[in-house]
Amino acid sequence: MAARQIIIDTDPGQDDAVAILFALACPETLDVLALTCVAGNVPLALTTRNARMICELAGRSDLPVFAGCDSPLGRELVTAEHVHGRSGLDGPDLPEPAMPLQDRHAVDFIIETLRTRPSGTVTLVPIGPLTNIATAFTKAPDIIERVQDIVLMGGAHAAHGNVTPAAEFNIHVDPAAAACVFGAGAPLTVLPLDVTHKALVTPARNAAFRAIGTRVGDAVGALTGFYERYHPERHGADGAPLHDPCTIGWLLQPDLFSARRVNVEIETGSELTMGMTVVDWWGVTDRPANTTFVHDINAQAFFDLLTERLARL
Ligand code: BDR
Ligand code: CA
Repeated sequence: MAARQIIIDTDPGQDDAVAILFALACPETLDVLALTCVAGNVPLALTTRNARMICELAGRSDLPVFAGCDSPLGRELVTAEHVHGRSGLDGPDLPEPAMPLQDRHAVDFIIETLRTRPSGTVTLVPIGPLTNIATAFTKAPDIIERVQDIVLMGGAHAAHGNVTPAAEFNIHVDPAAAACVFGAGAPLTVLPLDVTHKALVTPARNAAFRAIGTRVGDAVGALTGFYERYHPERHGADGAPLHDPCTIGWLLQPDLFSARRVNVEIETGSELTMGMTVVDWWGVTDRPANTTFVHDINAQAFFDLLTERLARL
């Protein structure tokens, strides 16, 4: 079977970086067409820099990297340097990238790719705020029915919010964009905090990355080691959640996860709960299911797969 074509829309971010490396380590299953960058964890100038650093780490300076939207739809950008460090990629000592950014805007690349490739053959994997995807859908609504699937990291149900009591970061940063994407009608799979807070980088899992004994293994050890500093203090957990790579895990081996078809709506009106994913878990409304909402993971099998694949780079 031909590898599935994906576009990773990203705001690296240590966990974004690991997701990108994970995908690039699996060319027989995933054909990464490009990275499209968005402002999120850090401003766009840094997410585009960080994405290229990761491509070069993976030996993929040929992979096109596009700059997209530098601010959310109608809101000020909220960033997360308190989690990811000033660069967004604090931890490993990686060189400044030499590969160029593409000239075109990420949104135009997404539109053109969906229009020119056969319908139903390109999957979008957004692992940052949904600004680029919503902008593409608004500018070119004809592409929506051509999307094979959207597999995104964002939102929360029983796990509650990680940036406000009600909201998860990616959705909170651009709720209007999220509302557009969740309401678009394209196939949608969501990996929320309910899953990612079970995918914890414990000391043993971090040691397994380092034990790979390659530049990539060392870098992933340092990336997840830095990231870990923030979370255990806050949540008292065994390690930091490795959010974004869960999307790639789902694409590679969905049987490691449990999911439920539900309706999800996005709160865009209330400042108190702005960006909340309102999940109709028990089907108490007559709103149609619009989301495959993933809620559980075989975490050790996921980390074993991730470690084994990273060792290939
Ligand atoms: C999400 O927010 C970012 O900080 C991470 O990269 C991830 O995409 C988790 O809430
Ligand atoms: Ca991210």
